[in-house]
Amino acid sequence: MKISLLNSSVFVLVLTLSFSVSWGALSSILEVTPGSEDFISCLESNSKSFASDSQLIFTPANASFLPVWEVAIQNTRYLKPSTPKPSVIVTPVNETLIQTALYCAKKHDYEIRIRSGGHDYEALSYSADVPFVMIDFTNMRSIDVDVANSTAWVQTGATLGELYYAISQKTNTLFFPGGTCPTVGVGGYMGGGGYGNLLRKYGAAADNAVDVRFVDVNGNILDRKLMGEDLFWAIRGGGSSSFGIVLAWKLRLVLVPPKVTVFQINKTLEEGLTEIFYKYQYVAPTIDRNLLIRAQVLSEYIGNTTMKTIRVLFEGIYQGTSDALLPLLDKKFPELGVTREICEEMASVRSIVVFWGLPSSTPVEILTNRSAITKLNNKVKSDYVRTPIPITGLKKIWNKFMENDESALLMMYPFGGRMNDYSETAIPYPHRAGVLLQVLKSVNFNGQTSDTTPTSLSRLVWMQSLEELLTPYVSKNPREAYSNYNDLDLGVGNANYKEASVWGERYWKRGNFKKLIRIKAKVDPHNFFRHPQSIPVFSSPLSSFK
Ligand SMILES: Cc1cc2nc3c(=O)[nH]c(=O)nc-3n(C[C@H](O)[C@H](O)[C@H](O)COP(=O)(O)OP(=O)(O)OC[C@H]3O[C@@H](n4cnc5c(N)ncnc54)[C@H](O)[C@@H]3O)c2cc1C
Ligand SMILES: *[C@@H]1O[C@H](CO)[C@@H](O)[C@H](O)[C@H]1NC(C)=O
Ligand SMILES: *[C@@H]1O[C@H](CO)[C@@H](O)[C@H](O)[C@H]1NC(C)=O
Ligand SMILES: *[C@@H]1O[C@H](CO)[C@@H](O)[C@H](O)[C@H]1NC(C)=O
Ligand SMILES: *[C@@H]1O[C@H](CO)[C@@H](O)[C@H](O)[C@H]1NC(C)=O
Ligand SMILES: *[C@@H]1O[C@H](CO)[C@@H](O)[C@H](O)[C@H]1NC(C)=O
Ligand SMILES: *[C@@H]1O[C@H](CO)[C@@H](O)[C@H](O)[C@H]1NC(C)=O
Repeated sequence: MKISLLNSSVFVLVLTLSFSVSWGALSSILEVTPGSEDFISCLESNSKSFASDSQLIFTPANASFLPVWEVAIQNTRYLKPSTPKPSVIVTPVNETLIQTALYCAKKHDYEIRIRSGGHDYEALSYSADVPFVMIDFTNMRSIDVDVANSTAWVQTGATLGELYYAISQKTNTLFFPGGTCPTVGVGGYMGGGGYGNLLRKYGAAADNAVDVRFVDVNGNILDRKLMGEDLFWAIRGGGSSSFGIVLAWKLRLVLVPPKVTVFQINKTLEEGLTEIFYKYQYVAPTIDRNLLIRAQVLSEYIGNTTMKTIRVLFEGIYQGTSDALLPLLDKKFPELGVTREICEEMASVRSIVVFWGLPSSTPVEILTNRSAITKLNNKVKSDYVRTPIPITGLKKIWNKFMENDESALLMMYPFGGRMNDYSETAIPYPHRAGVLLQVLKSVNFNGQTSDTTPTSLSRLVWMQSLEELLTPYVSKNPREAYSNYNDLDLGVGNANYKEASVWGERYWKRGNFKKLIRIKAKVDPHNFFRHPQSIPVFSSPLSSFK
């Protein structure tokens, strides 16, 4: 209910504020299947190879339209008839069709949505309340690993799992410091900054981008040199889809040992969790950069009883052998109780399988099999912890979790290490020195027919109450949020800086947000590349943002 209300307010905003939506386009908003003949005939008359292009274009009249739209929807919450769909899906194999589609979308007043892996938490890559053309990168996912130069060119349709697998086919001593969900797309991931298991040693993913191939609003193909350092800065964390279409990234690969050490260990309240977690906040962000220990918090029933407990799954990954890890933990964090028996040494690529929750014996080929990776059905919000949460606070959080019906999860990533070496303005991603933990808060809609059943709504209400409870314990002024965990509840106002700052400063902080707005005004002054939380363009003069 809350969600559809939000969408309709976005809808009204678009209707009242947008001058570029024509009457023709407006009336087609109301149609179930918007006509797209204008767009298709534009493609036909502007294409040098329409016979082959037409094989890459889907309208609702094509039987495969719906399957093509649905296949990359990674949050099954949006798999429902009421989710607004594109007028046309374009699945280019190269940039030529992208350039033509861009030209025709502008000419006929369609917006564009760009989909890579389809993980967007607000469905912004494949849904909109206005007529739009979806450019889907499913056919552009080549990966070219250059071991000698420690780089890889990766088209944005590739997933992280495909990237890790491709690297592992050539070497076990190089890797990319990316996230652990195999189906996340390189396109969206890099645009938001990207964090993962190597962040304490090598920083965010976007810190390790060295070049790009990009289509600007005029259809020009740009690389880093041609676009200039400002735009190259903006698309590494400022949300690429506000600025243009990224075709491929050139990534720096980083050195890893042939075997890393992985461990997993549960702790419950009965096993002294509260004290252990309290100490975790001091140790995990300051310990050797080779070690990252993430923590997942949830509540569950004890055995078959009606009594609940809190369980935290601590999962460690160490860039080295267990012989080196064990003395380190003995010295700094003996309370965690990690023993040699629970340590397993494996190649980096296999650690991704384990961190995704699969047995370590699973063939690593699964990383390239999109249909074998379970899709989620959830709503998330993020926070950053900059001062350790006191024991009293932890107890309040545990009690709040006891009220939940086992649909909630907190996922904590410790920062520190290399993240402290980057200034807040190095790239738009601003959550750097001083962050102890990044917190992902999630409620799922498992067992529910939709995200609007009474139970689903009560889970969202619970999440809001957790949000309030956490206020004293998380970052403030602004309360930082991760743009790749985008959340329209944070606000969608964009008429002026004051409105946009409500959500924009949470994602990027003031200095970076203003710089993103200045760059946006230069590279896309008519705000063609937009969505409810894209970098805004204001009518007031730029000088007011200097
Ligand atoms: C299960 C799960 C696990 C996750 N784990 C992590 C994690 O470990 N670390 C982390 O940092 N994040 C993580 N995320 C968040 C993830 O990084 C974002 O959801 C990211 O935006 C997904 O990228 P995508 O390409 O899959 O999504 P999409 O939905 O395809 O795209 C997301 C956004 O990027 C834009 N975009 C996509 N491709 C392009 C392109 N080629 N050019 C311009 N714009 C483009 C889209 O238009 C949209 O605005 C996770 C998300 C999920 C659902
Ligand atoms: C680009 O893709 C089109 C189909 O959209 C195809 O006809 C053309 O041959 C391709 N060009 C190159 C250089 O591969
Ligand atoms: C969709 O239908 C149109 C019209 O029949 C056809 O030209 C086009 O090739 C179809 N697209 C695909 C991908 O089959
Ligand atoms: C490294 O990259 C350069 C420039 O792209 C290329 O010319 C060179 O061949 C590469 N080196 C190796 C050893 O592949
Ligand atoms: C942690 O606890 C859960 C639930 O009891 C269990 O399924 C899982 O195997 C445990 N993990 C480890 C590493 O002990
Ligand atoms: C829980 O109940 C099931 C079925 O009644 C029983 O088989 C199982 O042994 C019980 N487990 C525990 C931990 O008591
Ligand atoms: C991918 O996974 C699916 C589902 O588990 C399976 O049916 C399919 O055979 C797998 N494909 C490949 C190429 O392994």
